Amino acid sequence: MPVPQEIADRIARLRQLIEHDNYLYYSLDAPEVPDAEYDRRFAELQSLEARYPEAIAEDSPTHRVGAPPVSGFAEVTHAVPMLSLNNAFDDATVGAFDRRVREALNAGQVRYSAEPKFDGLAVSLTYRDGLFERGATRGDGATGEDVTANLRTIGAIPLRLRGAGVPTLLEVRGEVLLLKRNFARLNEEQLARGEKLFANPRNAAAGALRQLDSRITAARRLAFFAYAVGVVEGGDLPRDTHSAQMNWLAQLRFPVSTERRVVDGLEGLLGYYRDIGRRRDALDFAIDGVVYKVDALPAQEVLGFVARAPRFAVAHKYPPEEELTEVVGIDIQVGRTGALTPVARLRPVNVGGVTVTNATLHNEDEVRRKDVRVGDTVVVRRAGDVIPEVVSVVLARRVGEPPVFSMPATCPECSSAVAREEGGVIHRCTGGLVCPAQRREALLHFASRRALDIEGLGDKVVEQLVGRDLVHTPADIFSLGAETLAGLDRMADKSAANLVASIEASKATTLARFIFSLGIRNVGEATARDLAAHFGSLDRFMSVGLDQLQAVPDVGPIVALSILGFFAEPHNVAVVRALRDAGVNWAEHEGRKIEVLPQTGRTFVLTGTLPTLTRDQARAHIEALGGKVASSVSSKTDYVVAGADAGSKLEKAAQLGIAILDESGLLDLLQGNSETLAEPDFNPSPTPNP
Ligand code: IVH
Repeated sequence: MPVPQEIADRIARLRQLIEHDNYLYYSLDAPEVPDAEYDRRFAELQSLEARYPEAIAEDSPTHRVGAPPVSGFAEVTHAVPMLSLNNAFDDATVGAFDRRVREALNAGQVRYSAEPKFDGLAVSLTYRDGLFERGATRGDGATGEDVTANLRTIGAIPLRLRGAGVPTLLEVRGEVLLLKRNFARLNEEQLARGEKLFANPRNAAAGALRQLDSRITAARRLAFFAYAVGVVEGGDLPRDTHSAQMNWLAQLRFPVSTERRVVDGLEGLLGYYRDIGRRRDALDFAIDGVVYKVDALPAQEVLGFVARAPRFAVAHKYPPEEELTEVVGIDIQVGRTGALTPVARLRPVNVGGVTVTNATLHNEDEVRRKDVRVGDTVVVRRAGDVIPEVVSVVLARRVGEPPVFSMPATCPECSSAVAREEGGVIHRCTGGLVCPAQRREALLHFASRRALDIEGLGDKVVEQLVGRDLVHTPADIFSLGAETLAGLDRMADKSAANLVASIEASKATTLARFIFSLGIRNVGEATARDLAAHFGSLDRFMSVGLDQLQAVPDVGPIVALSILGFFAEPHNVAVVRALRDAGVNWAEHEGRKIEVLPQTGRTFVLTGTLPTLTRDQARAHIEALGGKVASSVSSKTDYVVAGADAGSKLEKAAQLGIAILDESGLLDLLQGNSETLAEPDFNPSPTPNP
């Protein structure tokens, strides 16, 4: 189908607006429009591209959402090797550098470009005729890996360069990194999913950049800063100074750090070093030093290279954020799933401005590998917002022969036996809900916002309820009276009454929340929703076997076995029954005459944010008419309902030729008015959102 001119124009306009938004957001950190407006533009472009696949262009911003996995990365030979920098760890070495430069140039004082040394991963970006063509990692300097698909997902990297002076061939070098705020968020998400935490932003960025599935890279929200120009042909790149080249890159809309300065002589360099050092913690990106480069490019040529590093530049490193302290004890913490974690209690020490009193030791193997023992002097490190860690033991300071650490054979909280996971490194308490630590965590999970959502049932209250033996299982919560609650510390009559009311209110819930609230291992919120939608009733869910569980989209053997294992425990089944008896309830679809409903047998997938309906509301509408909501797009999907910020699901739907609806299309369909589907109307302005 040819693309009508008005649509082609609208698509071009949307791409321009979105790239402009990206630039303001990522490069200037100064967005002009609210996120919701950006999301609407993006959704409109995606839906137009889905309807008119001929209009899809390689440089469309919708391609930033990532592509299906690849099996490996191709090798890329760098046209000009990507070199490293010599390091200076003290002022004297910087002084010697400046002296050598002055002597070689026969100059009294030299002008330098001083920049942050980003602690990320070096990449090379190649643009041909202004179009981003290929991106590669540094690798060993001579050859790297082709990570183009991953780099494309980074909003800060321009996909198309515009303007008169754009070279026919341009290679831009710079660093990919994860901003500290996104790192903190990523680790929160990892923690919520029970997955391993990243030690620092650099590791997280490296992992993201080397993902075979670029959709994962897209979700990590990487950043990029340009710091050098490589190969260039044509165009109007300035040839006089490095700083002029950086300004030129900035006007081409590459992110270039605003922390760079042009300074004179050794004094200028050291002043810059101290200034950035003072503000290091406040920067939103991790740095491990600053870089000084002779600013004049002809002078750089004169100085040239020795071995693998330039003579015209040096990296001035900051001391790592490490200190020595003493291990005063090793405590064991018990988590919700019973996992035992050894934690080093430390003599309080100030590391880079923050007092550190404890550091996780992860697991028994880790403690033995580092050979940490009580009484040892250890090196502790803290980088940025990262959880403090014990780097190593100073063996020379060990006094006597303290005992080697081993996990206790019984749980410190409940004395149940501790078992090591088969083939794993984790030790777990086998006490289940007998263990107060697991009980506390299970209750907090049960009451949490996305589970039964019991307002007012937080740490302090749960701690006391478990400590005073008032609550053993989540079902006991429902028999707590106002008087009992008012007897807790710091609980006034009014708040006790409020808590009773919110406990009562929480009884009316949904099957999905209920399943999630049980805290079955490997069953997160999304899986709980899928299970609820698929089985419709609790009894069915509890009675099915392995195969039926695995028929649910996204449920594999691990999740299925966790569910079966959970219900194989009689006390878990008893808790479920007690919760039902206490009055916890929801609407089930079982027994409903779904055969006669208009959408029976049709599968819908929801993606992105709809303008007025929440996900839950859209799902409820669909399910009320007999339709099913699945979490991933496949050939069995009948409709994809796409809103703002829709991602790979929309692309997949377009590839499979599945009907795509926006919110109003969905509502029309559900109301039996499906003409909209047959002949999609072009709506040049996004759905207004009052
Ligand atoms: S210039 C020929 N500038 O440091 C010199 N490098 O040890 C090329 N780096 O792999 C590098 N920030 O990833 C330069 N402002 C900056 C930098 C920087 C970080 C990294 C780069 C390189 C390593 C060199």
